[in-house]
Parts: sequence; C-alpha cells; structure tokens
Amino acid sequence: MGFATDAIHAGVRPDPATGAVMTPIYQTSTYVYDGLGRGKGYDYARTINPTRSALEENLAALEGGKAAYAFASGMSAIHAVTALLKAGDHVVVGNNVYGGTYRLFSKVLEDFGLRFTYVDTSRLENIETALDPSTRMVYIETPTNPMMILTDIAAVARLCRSKNLISVVDNTFLTPCFQKPLALGADIVVHSTTKFLNGHSDSVGGAAIMAQAAHAERIKFVQNSAGAILSPFDSWLVLRGIKTLPLRMRQHDASGRVLADWLTRHPKISKVYYPGLKDHPQHALASRQASGFGGMISFLLADRVDVTRFFDSLKLCALAESLGGVETLVCQPSTMTHASIPPEERQRLGLTDRLARISVGCEDVEDLIADLDRALASA
Ligand SMILES: Cc1ncc(COP(=O)(O)O)c(C=O)c1O
Repeated sequence: MGFATDAIHAGVRPDPATGAVMTPIYQTSTYVYDGLGRGKGYDYARTINPTRSALEENLAALEGGKAAYAFASGMSAIHAVTALLKAGDHVVVGNNVYGGTYRLFSKVLEDFGLRFTYVDTSRLENIETALDPSTRMVYIETPTNPMMILTDIAAVARLCRSKNLISVVDNTFLTPCFQKPLALGADIVVHSTTKFLNGHSDSVGGAAIMAQAAHAERIKFVQNSAGAILSPFDSWLVLRGIKTLPLRMRQHDASGRVLADWLTRHPKISKVYYPGLKDHPQHALASRQASGFGGMISFLLADRVDVTRFFDSLKLCALAESLGGVETLVCQPSTMTHASIPPEERQRLGLTDRLARISVGCEDVEDLIADLDRALASA
C-alpha cells in the first residue's frame, strides 16, 4: 500500500466486540481470563494493550520495521534502546543531537559504565576515527536539531554492518513520510512522537522501530521490565494524528520552503539553515536520502537585531519549546531546548543566542511571514 493508505489503515481494524471503525481507547489495567491458563492473549496492560498495539503495528508499517514499541516519551524510547548495551560499551554519537539525548548519555548513562564520544557525523571519517574495540553503537540524528546538519544514513549503516555495530537514527524531524532510515540500512529508528507524528502538541510520547527481530525482542523485554509505556489515551491520540501525517508534512514542507526563501532575503537575517535551500552545503544529500525537506528552519539574527525584542514581539508564532505541531513554534535553542549543552560546545556549534529555530506549522504562510516581518521590524 502507499504511505498515505498505510498511515490511515496499518494496524487499525474494526473493533471485534462492536465493529467500531476507530480503535477504541482500551482504558484497562488488566484482562479477564476465560479459565485457568485460558486468556485472550492479553494479561496485563504494561505488557500489552490493544490501543498501543494498533499504534505499534502502524509505526512498524510506516518505518518498514519488524516491530515497533511505543514509549512514554521520546527520551524513554532512546533510553530503552541503550539497554541493548552493557557496562564498558562505547557509543559514537552525533555532536549536535537533541540536548535531552546528550543529557541522558552524559549525565545518566555514563554513571552506568557506558562511554560516549561525540563527533560531527556528517563526515564518515570522524565516526571511523572515533571507533574503538568496545564500540557497539553509532547514534545519529539527521537533520540535526537545530543546526540542520545531515548525516549520510546509508553510509553510516554500511559502516556499522561491516563492523557489527548497531546503527540508530532519530527520525523525529522528517518522519517516515520523508525519510526511511531502515530502508537505507539502519538497524533502529527512534522518535519523539510528541512532534510531527502526533502533530497536535497534545501528547508526549516516543517510539523505537527495529529492523531486526533480535533487537525487537530485547526492546520489548526492556519495555515490559522497566515499564515506560505509552498510555492508551496517548496511543489513541498518536494513532489519530498519524492519519493526517502525509497531509500535514506536505504543508510543513511547502511552507518551510517558502519561509526559508523569504528569510534568506531579509536584511535582518544573516544566515538560514534549511536543507531545502540550494546553497545548504548538503542540499544534494538531503534531496537524495529524503523525499522532502520538512518544516524545521534555524536562522541567525543579524548583529543589529535586538534578540529579546524579536522573540517578545512575535504574536502568531508561539515562543515555545517543542516542534512538529500544526501551530508554528519559535524558540531560542541556546536558552531553551539546548540549554543542557555546555556553553563552549554550543559556541563551537554556532548555537549562539542569536540563533532562532522555527517549527513551521500549517497556518497560512503569508500570516507567518507577516508576523516574523513585524517582529523583525520592531527589533
Ligand atoms: C530530535 C528529538 N529527539 C528526541 C526528543 C525527546 O523527545 P521527548 O521530549 O518526547 O522525550 C526530542 C525532544 O524535543 C527531539 O527534538
């Protein structure tokens, strides 16, 4: 089936009890047995829940994986994936991953004996150089948040296969609508479903989708053991959100292109980071490994712009963390989403207080331009 058909139908079947077309919210903690040793395949809702299962089947179909598991947040999905490792193992990580991922790795998991080396994964040789005999995993985000740097997924996957390493890709920014890491050879995809997959800024969740049955089996075991499951209601919200994912992504992408182009021509903007721009250094890779550029744009406010005034003057664009909703959100990554990255590392990446990030929503793009134009004029 085509992607839009799968988005609407995969994992979703009329409810066997009533024929309800929409998967019900099975708000239950447990299930009755027909008799001793005779259950219906459902025992306890931490282990399995029909609403969550429908979402998981849907996600596995969209990403082209063997199995998917839905978690309480993107971070808990990422945490579960690291449970494939053991003390002493080493991971090579992109040096511009989401701040919360960096915090989990550096401030939590290092205490459990895992080691992490952060490199610019846009250059394959940086990954090769960072490998050591205990390296077990390469973890990348592409495009990165917020610098919009790309990594060649197929090249990383090939390298990992040749060295028997697990390749993990955070696909939150582009979603399987535009980018399919498993088809490019990666082993595991992680998502913050909080973002584009749910798309309505009303649920926090995450997912891990595995290409290999052995990884899937272990992640399922970890999820059941640690218990960071997505609730039935949130599972239902994400399943519902995904039905319009292709429509929404098309709009995010179309408006993203228009807005990025407009920003490049604005005299108070000194640089625009958007893979859809022809002068983005990895525009060719972006066109090759993804079928859209999406709605995430970062831009640098020129020196003469009063940064605080710019953010404070926005009216339609909400000043807020997070991304991927139908409403446009703008943030200052250095003080908001990426505050947990050490200041010298932020400086090195170019992640200064002058950098703004916009998650372009589905409003009329003319209204977004008018709002940004007014805020820039007053700053
Ligand atoms: C790219 C990316 N990955 C993972 C996460 C973490 O997801 P969550 O906030 O749902 O735990 C985020 C959150 O902003 C993100 O932007």
